[in-house]
Amino acid sequence: MTDQMPQTPPVEDWTSDYDIFDPDYLTDPTLIWDDLRNECPVAHTERWGGSWLPTKYDDVVRMARMVDVLSSTDPIVVRPPENNAGDPNAPESGYTQAVNAPPISSDAPVHTWSRRLILPAFSPRSTANHEPYTRALCHQLIDELQASGDTTVDAATNYAQQIPPRVIARLLGIDEGMSEQFTDWVRGVLELGLTNPPLRQKCRDELREFFMAEIKDRIANPGEDLISELLAAKVDGEPVDLLHVAGTCNLMLVAGIDTTWSSIGSALWHLATHPEDRERLIADPELIPTAVEELLRAYSPVTMARVATDDVDFNGCPIKAGDKILMNFPGANRDPEMFDNPDEVIIDRQQNRHVAFGVGIHRCAGSNLARMEMQVAIEVWLERFPKFTLDDADAVTWAGGQVRGPRFLPIAVDAEAQVPGATSVTT
Ligand code: HEM
Repeated sequence: MTDQMPQTPPVEDWTSDYDIFDPDYLTDPTLIWDDLRNECPVAHTERWGGSWLPTKYDDVVRMARMVDVLSSTDPIVVRPPENNAGDPNAPESGYTQAVNAPPISSDAPVHTWSRRLILPAFSPRSTANHEPYTRALCHQLIDELQASGDTTVDAATNYAQQIPPRVIARLLGIDEGMSEQFTDWVRGVLELGLTNPPLRQKCRDELREFFMAEIKDRIANPGEDLISELLAAKVDGEPVDLLHVAGTCNLMLVAGIDTTWSSIGSALWHLATHPEDRERLIADPELIPTAVEELLRAYSPVTMARVATDDVDFNGCPIKAGDKILMNFPGANRDPEMFDNPDEVIIDRQQNRHVAFGVGIHRCAGSNLARMEMQVAIEVWLERFPKFTLDDADAVTWAGGQVRGPRFLPIAVDAEAQVPGATSVTT
């Protein structure tokens, strides 16, 4: 089941005609990746503008490092051509506007300095500063769920989705009260807009306008937030272009919201369907960080894209200049050549060099923050709702494409076992 199912002809041959929007792929792509790894490890399709799909860990890692020929400049998103949405065989002719979201949408040398500008904001120390707020926020969200008296709650919408936009807003120094609007914009860009280009464009325009207004405000009234830091930064002695600052802020929302929300949702889905893992984490909360790594591996949400700048032969695959490559980090994380029993979630897995956060120069800059949010969200949920199950497995909906995760997650919470809280949000 999924939120996002454009009409496409059924897939007859996944090796030469795969479709990442196919209902089977959206619901559970793991069996498809298994077959492809055996038959054709780098698959190809003409659908949605055409692309290549590596399925083996080593191939994904190698491609992520081929930055001289596989570029991260537009189009890096997993989406159909803008003027041909809904037509899976349309040529890729509609990319009209470059994505301005550095560092993710840039190659060296721009990538190098634009990444360096944001890294301090995501250091372990900066991340630790946001931990008490995140913990109090999670408690407040559960206070609200418990106060509602409902015995079935939508853990995707009313818990997981509520956490990342507020944490990012706080980091950027923008209004946390606008978190619903931020989520709508991000879904418009990364999820619903993938098959609805006018919506995508509208959301991108509104985001840019929003951040340009925030930037003007911060120029007049600097604060201690990331926007002010970016405005104060110098590159080769010069201030950073305002459109670049707006693009980076844009990326913070787009990269930080859907991804982390999806991971928290998938983790709760797993714990609701695997009582033995839930009980083990309640008995031994110190295992949560290790479990988070395993949940990230098994339910990796993010697939990014690259575009070839030159013809390149990859293990016999004739990749042509202009071809798109889907960086299948989720599929790499299920490769049996890299992980023992890859389709099994082993919450105390010790050898776990997963690539859920990518690999190489574009490796996730926000991974410390994402890990902290996941750990705290799971810890607080287990503390306050120690007994829960999935209410209706068939009712769960999943988003796929660029970022995979549950969008409707009805969880039955045992009213008798609920633990009331005593904390409120502090800023
Ligand atoms: C569980 C949550 C997350 C996952 C799974 C995730 C995954 C990823 C992946 C796979 C990439 C690499 C993209 C590529 O190779 O093209 C990436 C890049 C990035 N992520 Fe995350 N991410 C998460 C959360 C966050 C958060 C909370 C932030 C903070 C705002 C963030 C900021 C970034 C940035 C800035 C980049 C670009 C880095 C660069 O190009 O140098 N991410 N992320």
